[in-house]
Amino acid sequence: MCGIVGYIGTQQAAPLLLEGLTRLEHRGYDSAGVAVVGGSGVKLAKKAGRVRDLSEGLPKRFGGKIGIGHTRWATHGPANDVNAHPHTDEAGQVAVVHNGIIDNASALRAELADAGVTLASDTDTEVLAHLIGASSANTLEKRVAEALARVEGTYGIAVVHADFADRIVVARNGSPLIVGVGDHEMYVASDLAAVVRYTTTVAHLDDGEMATVTASGFTTYRIESTGLAATDRRANKVDIDPAAYDAGDHESFMHKELLEQPARAEAVLRGRLDERFGTGHLGGLNLDARELRAIRRVKILGCGSAYYVGQMGASLIEELARIPADAEAASEFRYRNPIIEPDTLYIAVSQSGETIDTLLAVQEVHRKGGRCIGLVNVVGSAIAREVDGGIYLHSGPEVAVASTKALTNMYLAFAMLAVQLGRVRDLSISDGKRLIAGLTAIPGQIEEVLATEPQLAVVAKQLAQAESLFFIGRVRGFPVAREGAQKFKEITYRHAEAYQTSELKHGPLALISTEVPTVAIVPDDELVERNVAALHEIAARGGPLTVITHASVDLGDLAGKVERIDVPRNERELDPILLTIPLQVLSYHAALTLGHDIDKPRNLAKSVTVE
Ligand code: G6P
Repeated sequence: MCGIVGYIGTQQAAPLLLEGLTRLEHRGYDSAGVAVVGGSGVKLAKKAGRVRDLSEGLPKRFGGKIGIGHTRWATHGPANDVNAHPHTDEAGQVAVVHNGIIDNASALRAELADAGVTLASDTDTEVLAHLIGASSANTLEKRVAEALARVEGTYGIAVVHADFADRIVVARNGSPLIVGVGDHEMYVASDLAAVVRYTTTVAHLDDGEMATVTASGFTTYRIESTGLAATDRRANKVDIDPAAYDAGDHESFMHKELLEQPARAEAVLRGRLDERFGTGHLGGLNLDARELRAIRRVKILGCGSAYYVGQMGASLIEELARIPADAEAASEFRYRNPIIEPDTLYIAVSQSGETIDTLLAVQEVHRKGGRCIGLVNVVGSAIAREVDGGIYLHSGPEVAVASTKALTNMYLAFAMLAVQLGRVRDLSISDGKRLIAGLTAIPGQIEEVLATEPQLAVVAKQLAQAESLFFIGRVRGFPVAREGAQKFKEITYRHAEAYQTSELKHGPLALISTEVPTVAIVPDDELVERNVAALHEIAARGGPLTVITHASVDLGDLAGKVERIDVPRNERELDPILLTIPLQVLSYHAALTLGHDIDKPRNLAKSVTVE
C-alpha cells in the first residue's frame, strides 16, 4: 500500500521516478508526487489522481539527478494535491515520502503547531519532514534518526535534503524497503517492481535499519537508542525475469495472470507430490511426522481472498486429515484476545506477505507461544520472515489487485498440506494416491476451464447489468461462492452477496426477483440433489441463474432455462479450485463490460500495509 521509489546517479531523476511510480501504481493510486534535488534546492511536484496526471503536469525545468517519488493510498486526509507525498518542512529543504502509519501523529502535529509550525497537509507523514527539518545534528542520518525516535508506528521512508545533496536516506520499520545497485547509480524502492528494469541486484532492509544511498553505493546502520550502529547488509542478485512485471500483449495484468494459472499451478506442485506414498512433500514446513501428528487443531489467518481460500483450506484439512480446522479474518483475530494453544497449528496466508493485519496476527500467535507457518508468495517478505516455516506459492509477481494465480496456488498448497497431514493420520495410501493424481491433473484442467472464456464472457455481459447478485454454495462450495462474490465486488463495484444455498430460504429468498441474478455453485457431490432443489426455488421466483457445475449433473427441466457452465471433474475434495476459476473469468469480463480499470479498482490497493 503506497509505493516509494528513489534514484541517485548520472541521469535525470524525474523520468526514472515517474516510470518507477507507474510500476508501483497497483500499491496505491489516488495521488502521486516526486521531489528532485537540483541546483536550486528541492523541487516538488504533487498531484491527485494517477501518475500520468502527475507527469503531464510536470514543469519543464524539473532537472536533478537525485530524487524520490511516491504513489499514495490515502489514510490521513483525502486524496488531494496537498496530501500527496513528498512532504516538506516549512523551508522546503527536506522532502520525505512515507509508507505506513505514524500512530502518534496527532500528538506530534499538536506539538509542532504549538511551536508555531504551519502544517500544510492533513497527513501523518508531514510531521517527519518538520522534525527532520528542525534537527541541527551534523549529518542527515542523525537528523532522520532523531525524528524517527519521536515516532510510534510503522514506516518505510526515503528522505532527501538540500544541504546533503549527495544522498538519499532511507529507513524501515514494518514497511518494506529495498536498495537497488546500478552502474554508478542507485535506486531505492518499496517493491522490486519499481526497479527491476534497471537492476536485479538488491538489498532488503530489515526493520529498524537505515541506509545512506549515494551514487556510488550504500551503507546500512541499525537505529539504536545510543546512535547508529553499522550493519553489513549486502546486495544480492535476485532471480526474477523483468518481463514478469509487464502485461505484454494483454489489456490488463488480471487477464495475463488469469491465463498464467496452469503454468503457475505446475510450479507450486513441482517437486512436492510424492506419488509413491500418496502424500505431500513439503520440506519448508520445518515439522517432522511426529510434530505433524501432534497437531490437534488448525487455525488459518488471512484477509480478503486469502481469508476465503483459507476457508477452502480449512475444509480440506478437516476432510482429509480429520483435524478440526477453521479460518478467521486476520484483521479481527488479534482484537479478541485469542486463545493460543500449543497443539494448534496456525497458518498465515498472504500473497504479498505484507498485509499488516496478517503480520500482526502472526506476531500475536508468537507472543503467546504458538507456532505459525505461512503460505506466502513474496519470498523474503515480512510474513515469510516472521513465520516458523511454510510453503512458498511460486505464483510469480501478481500485479492486479484482484488475486487470481496466487489464490489458486494458495488452494493447491492447502491441498498438499491437507494430504500430508492426513497421511500421518488415517488417510489411506490409496486415498493419498488418488488425491495426488487429482492434484497432478489440476493444471491441465485449469487450462480447460480457461478455454471456456468466450462463453463466460457472454454470461458476464448479462451479469454486469445487474445492480445486485447472489453467489451461493454449500459446504465445500460456500467459500467458493464467498470468493466469487468478493472478486465480483472488487472489480465490478456491483453488490454481490455470498450465501449458503441452504440458508437462502431463511431470509434472502425475499430479495430474489427477475432483477437479481444468482450464481450457484453446484458440484456433482453428495449435496447435488439439494442444490438443484434450491435452484428450482430461485427459478420459481423468477431469479435468473448461472450454474457452475459438472457435465454429469442433471438440471432436469431447468436445463435450457439457466446459464450453465461445466467445469472438469476432479476428486470431490479438490473440486473447489476448478469451480473458482470461472468466477474469476466472469468477474473479469463483467468489469471489462462496465469499462472499469480492472487492475486498479477504486478505493483498493494490492497490499494493505495499514491496519
Ligand atoms: C487486499 C486486496 C485483496 C487481497 C488482500 C490480502 O485487501 O485488495 O485482494 O486479497 O489484500 O492480500 P494478501 O497480500 O495478504 O494476500
